[in-house]
Amino acid sequence: MPPKVHSTTYRTHTCGELRLSHAATTVTLCGWVFRIRPFGGMTFIDLRDRYGITQLVFNPQTDATLAEQAERLGREYIIQVTGQVVERSNKNPALPTGDVEVLVTRMQVLNASRTPPFTLEDQTDGGEELRMKFRYLDLRRRPLQQHLLQRHQVARAVREYLDGQGFVDIETPHLIKSTPEGARDFVVPSRLNPGQFYALPQSPQTFKQLLMVSGFDRYYQIVRCFRDEDLRQDRQPEFTQIDCEMAFVGREDVLQMFEHMVRHVFRRIRNLELTEFPRMSYAEAIRTYGTDKPDLRFGMTLHYLKDEYANLLGEHHFSVLDQAEVVAGISVPGAASFTRKQLDELTEFVRRPQIGAGGLITIRWQEDGSLKSSIDKYIAADTLLRYAEVLRARPGDLMLLIAGPASNTRRALSELRLELGRRLGLRSADDFRPLWVVDFPLLEYDAEQQRWAAMHHPFTSWHPDDDALLESDPARVRANAYDLVLNGVEIGGGSVRIHNRTDQMRMFRRLGLSEQEAEQKFGFILNAFEYGAPPHGGIAFGFDRFCSMIIANQEGIRDFIAFPKNNMGRDVMLDAPSDIDPELKKELGL
Ligand code: AMO
Repeated sequence: MPPKVHSTTYRTHTCGELRLSHAATTVTLCGWVFRIRPFGGMTFIDLRDRYGITQLVFNPQTDATLAEQAERLGREYIIQVTGQVVERSNKNPALPTGDVEVLVTRMQVLNASRTPPFTLEDQTDGGEELRMKFRYLDLRRRPLQQHLLQRHQVARAVREYLDGQGFVDIETPHLIKSTPEGARDFVVPSRLNPGQFYALPQSPQTFKQLLMVSGFDRYYQIVRCFRDEDLRQDRQPEFTQIDCEMAFVGREDVLQMFEHMVRHVFRRIRNLELTEFPRMSYAEAIRTYGTDKPDLRFGMTLHYLKDEYANLLGEHHFSVLDQAEVVAGISVPGAASFTRKQLDELTEFVRRPQIGAGGLITIRWQEDGSLKSSIDKYIAADTLLRYAEVLRARPGDLMLLIAGPASNTRRALSELRLELGRRLGLRSADDFRPLWVVDFPLLEYDAEQQRWAAMHHPFTSWHPDDDALLESDPARVRANAYDLVLNGVEIGGGSVRIHNRTDQMRMFRRLGLSEQEAEQKFGFILNAFEYGAPPHGGIAFGFDRFCSMIIANQEGIRDFIAFPKNNMGRDVMLDAPSDIDPELKKELGL
């Protein structure tokens, strides 16, 4: 007989296991002292482990010494107790073990604990840095325990699906040569090759393509990636991808395969059937939502009074509007009642340096039909009514307009839209709205470097109809690339790849690489393409983001990673990065 799942030489049951059916049995439990309460001459202890909490009772009438020992225990002491399970007189329906308690007859302190620097309750009093420094204690808290346990379940569901579809899990190296994904590389000096460096992979992109050339046909890996880029709440310098690649596929095959994967995982983890996975072109997303990762849980789309195609403003001699490249806005249903203060807050919001709009024009269309705007002085009421029509506003709505350079204005309106969605409670935590964003531009112009750069990565193929544009009008070439967006978060992205040397060389040339440079940096993959490379394509999901979304429907990923870095990319527990031994430096030729 195999041992009972949790019973070991130390314990017979876990702290989450005991029920009324166990009454009258003698059990041994191990766990952390969570709370100690003296009551009616007795001592009650909540004993906690990963599985739950069990109430222990120490009765001085049964064993005075033991009861005294119990009183002296501190929070987070780790103890082993033996006793009888009994039915509780005042049951706690909030706890699965709340019908019973254990009358302790034997106790051993397995280890003492200093008083933790913050409470380990669900809502803790510890600040973020402190909690990161004592991450092993923070991880004892139930919300974080739940996140990591569920992360494990997400990984299992992903593997279950991909294994079922014939994907093979293959590891790829971490000490490599740079993989261009648009961020800076982390580098590792080589002792045996002084003055030379490995790069840590930004993703296994080139390796998974080489595996297709090798004939593995369907590959996946849940793999760590490293990117030295500016950090945000949904970005870590090392993060995990569900990295996938398939041979003999076009875009549709990849989208279908991974739409089903996401559905499968939602079913397993949330018992939820996702309804549809609509598609939207990049151009439409940018135009209607101001971003390539729209949150579809609510409307409030962007409308244009003036843009590169048309100008509906007419004559008005108001320089802010006259001089702007784009004038666009959103209409907020029922928000005409916003106070002066609320409007000022919104204006401040869009003026923040991270958002960077010059200002915000507000027009309140009162229920009585009158209009109150911040530009009354310049624009007559009948003109404002025309604006209202363009913005699809109705009486009772608030219209918010921004004027300025096209991309700034769109970005600012997108942020404003999300902020209003948040304030008005439109971003429901129970609502999941996936979206495939397709037809990304292949290239974007990097004004600083004065050259074209790949928007996804240089191995992405392009729409056959746009082939001739690669040399003549690069901005217009559409990529065979796609992103999966969930509630405004980009959870995955991929493409159908280039699989022949000629096109790959054309792409490198377009990116400003000479023949020699391309050969030197990417000779291995260019050569591989000359040995029977199949058509192939794939995708990678940000596993941390996927978990934070599916588990909590939230953007921030730190609470879903066991040992994350802070905003400065530091591990405050280890105090890394740090200086290294001068001897080691010398040996490495640094
Ligand atoms: P991409 O660069 O779009 O594609 O990355 C795929 C997904 O990884 C997640 N992600 C991150 N998550 C946390 N922290 C980061 N710093 C971070 N950077 C990216 C995002 C993103 O959608 N090789 C290609 C995939 C392919 O073409 O198949 C790639 O890495 O969720």
